[in-house]
Amino acid sequence: MSDDFNHAESAARFLLSESPLCPRIGLVLGSGLGGFADELSDATRIPYANIPFFPRSTAVGHAGQMVMGNAGSIPVAAMQGRVHLYEGYSAKEVAFPMRVFGRMGIRAVILTNAAGGVSLEYKQGALVIISDHINLQGQNPLIGANDERFGLRFPDMTKAYWKPYREIAEKAASRLGKMVYHGVYAALAGPSYETPAEIRYLRTIGADLVGMSTVSEVIAARHMGMKVLAISCVTNMAAGILDQALNHEEVLETTKRVGSDFVALLRAVLPEIARDVDA
Ligand code: HPA
Repeated sequence: MSDDFNHAESAARFLLSESPLCPRIGLVLGSGLGGFADELSDATRIPYANIPFFPRSTAVGHAGQMVMGNAGSIPVAAMQGRVHLYEGYSAKEVAFPMRVFGRMGIRAVILTNAAGGVSLEYKQGALVIISDHINLQGQNPLIGANDERFGLRFPDMTKAYWKPYREIAEKAASRLGKMVYHGVYAALAGPSYETPAEIRYLRTIGADLVGMSTVSEVIAARHMGMKVLAISCVTNMAAGILDQALNHEEVLETTKRVGSDFVALLRAVLPEIARDVDA
């Protein structure tokens, strides 16, 4: 059996010893979406390199630190940046922070990412509440011996994206007067962007979004029984939809443009999710 459980326990104890807060909700802030964590009060910021066994992010646009702080009156642990398969990490390593959140006593996580829009209904900058995923990464964080202390050998994924949380997010957006969509996220390993033919294929099999993250984290979080809300920012239309090449600068520019909407939505959903986890 792997040492994941003991490593997660060490990292969790370390993090809890670094802050007087006891975070109730874990967040992962994707490419360019880290601004939410800059606004937390009573914040303790810990670079991933200082957290025992924690993977370090190398992607541009990812700060690579854990911020424990209060969002209003709700203590949260927010990851500014994550690691990806394309950096050379295994799915288990990518999912390790979820193991740590779980060992910190966190019962709900909010995952965010930048994604390409596969659905022709979306426009650049759209916010999409993920309703389901298609894992095309050829990897799964649960491969290998199962550690029953985390969860079952064959965990259910029919409720991967917790419906009551999706409804909370939808209502919060409408209170804020923001349009949100719901969609299916297809995850590929990357790091090359997709070809136009791959995007036509993804649309045919039912994907609305495409990205290179999130699914390993969702699988590990559900394995441990944590509830998940996941939101994508459509940073670009996927390959072949517009007659233009894709690049990471465009992704970061879009997240910068809609960053404040994103932060407002996160702030609006937190009180209701906190109420659910504390119930
Ligand atoms: N494809 C894959 N990942 C992405 C994209 C994309 O078009 N945009 C942002 N992340």
